[in-house]
Amino acid sequence: MSTPTAKVHGELLDLERVICRLTELTPERARAFTIGGGDWPLRGFVVRVGERVRGYINRCPHAGHALDLLHGRFLTPDGALILCSSHGALFEKESGYCVAGPCAGHSLTGVELEIRGGFVLLAESVDLEAPPERVL
Ligand code: FES
Repeated sequence: MSTPTAKVHGELLDLERVICRLTELTPERARAFTIGGGDWPLRGFVVRVGERVRGYINRCPHAGHALDLLHGRFLTPDGALILCSSHGALFEKESGYCVAGPCAGHSLTGVELEIRGGFVLLAESVDLEAPPERVL
């Protein structure tokens, strides 16, 4: 079955993989996404790091909770670090590495992204039938 596509600024986009517009992401604002159907969609979030964008599975390596207990809030107030709202773990935006908290030394699971036509997409290399890490 083919997935819906759209041509934007000369780029053909797989609409199933679109997360958000690049302009929606600011240094202080992350964006959650859920892609894929059924009982086990891929749940993650994207953050802006300078001119780049990084994506991670929304699962803390400490106790496996979603990071945004406060829905949609993934960052410290100054936007410098990723914050897990459950027990306060702090992660680097660039690498997902935990720099403080109960899972210091561990890392978030990254997801590959593509930027095309001004949109942030889940990369074609990410298999939606077998995402990198399923989230309960
Ligand atoms: S679940 Fe994230 S710090 Fe405990």
